[in-house]
Formats: sequence, C-alpha cells, structure tokens
Amino acid sequence: MSKNLLAPSMLSADFGCLQKDIELVNNSAADIFHLDIMDGVFVPNISYGFPVVKAIAKSAKKPLDAHLMIVEPDKYIDRFAESGVEYLSVHYEACPHLHRTVQHIKKSGMKAGVALNPHSPVCLLEDIMCEADFILIMSVNPGFGGQSFIERAIEKIRKAKQMAAALNPEILIEVDGGVCAENAGMLKGAGADILVAGSAVFSSKDPAKAIEMIKGA
Ligand code: DX5
Ligand code: ZN
Repeated sequence: MSKNLLAPSMLSADFGCLQKDIELVNNSAADIFHLDIMDGVFVPNISYGFPVVKAIAKSAKKPLDAHLMIVEPDKYIDRFAESGVEYLSVHYEACPHLHRTVQHIKKSGMKAGVALNPHSPVCLLEDIMCEADFILIMSVNPGFGGQSFIERAIEKIRKAKQMAAALNPEILIEVDGGVCAENAGMLKGAGADILVAGSAVFSSKDPAKAIEMIKGA
C-alpha cells in the first residue's frame, strides 16, 4: 500500500510571494515541503540555498524534504539539519562514499534518502537499501521543473518496491519529476509512497485543488 504522501516542490512557487505559497501548502492536503537545492555543477541550474530554506522552515507546518542536487553534499549536511530539514536526499551519482554520507545524515537526526538519476539502474541501491530511510527515483533529468515524465520510471519504482520488500520493507519510495494528477494513480500503484509535484501544483489555476486531485488519484 502506498503511503500516499504528496510533496509540492517549492521550485515552482512564486518566490516574490513565497509566504503565500508556504501558507497554501500549510492549508492544503499536501504532506511535505520538497526543496530542490541545485549548485550549477551537479546539475546545469542554480536554485536557492540556506536563507530560503530557513525562511520556509520558519513558517512551514509540515516537514521539509531537501533534495540535494549538488556535488560534495557531505559538507552541508549539518547545516541542513540546523536549518530545520527532516528528510535529506543525496544523489547516488554525487557520492563516492555513500554509506558514510547516509550515516552522517542519520546521525544529524534527519531521515536519509538516496536519489537516482534516470539512467542509473535500481540495482545500484542493493547495498545501501537497508541503511537508507527513503529512496528517490527521478522521473526527469534533475535540474529543472516542468519537464516531461520519463515513463521508464514506473518500472524502476516497481523494481525498487520488490527490492525493498526483501531488504527493507520500511523504506519509503519517492518519485520526482513530471508528476501530475494523470500519472499519480499509476505511480502509487507501482509502489511510490511520496509523490513530488512542482508545476502540476503551482502552475495550476487552483493549486489546492490540484493537490487534492493528486492525493485522490
Ligand atoms: C527537478 C526537481 C524536481 C522539480 C519537479 O530537478 O528535482 O523536484 O522541481 O518539478 P515538476 O513537478 O514540475 O517536474
Ligand atoms: Zn526534487
């Protein structure tokens, strides 16, 4: 059974009026704030850093999930914990000592996630699955909101769910990129527990309704 959690990605929020969109998520059926941290090196885009994370933490009434699309994430783990983040994911492709990185995240009191780019096979997670609290299957190439969903991600979620059943049944599976009301039901059916949605929420005329549609799918 999917946990059916929805995490709006604040990358698509209105940064000129951030407080309004934080309140929107607070007062909606959404469960988690998804914060995309990009460094212009691991991905070809730069997003935002600690001042914005802290501003969101100050008003957020739901947990913060920071998705680090950065090289050398180990350098910043403690600062994310101090900034109020509860779920922290790092990319498999950015961490040569992933086991150490995951331990560091857990030691600083956060839930540790491992994110996989679209080209990275799920089998790469075999030896970290029993250590991680959640895994993040990317269904677009990370770097930008508003891209099209890569269908192959569905099969990857199914595989991850099977591996989890054998190795760590408690682990949560998150999917990120191109998620919308139309594919949400299928993603939950495949085994996704946390659905991240940016443009499907914030580009909608009625974001609260869009959140309900994804939650209800
Ligand atoms: C992409 C980010 C996503 C993105 C999702 O690099 O990790 O979280 O904001 O945006 P949508 O839902 O518009 O694909
Ligand atoms: Zn993300």
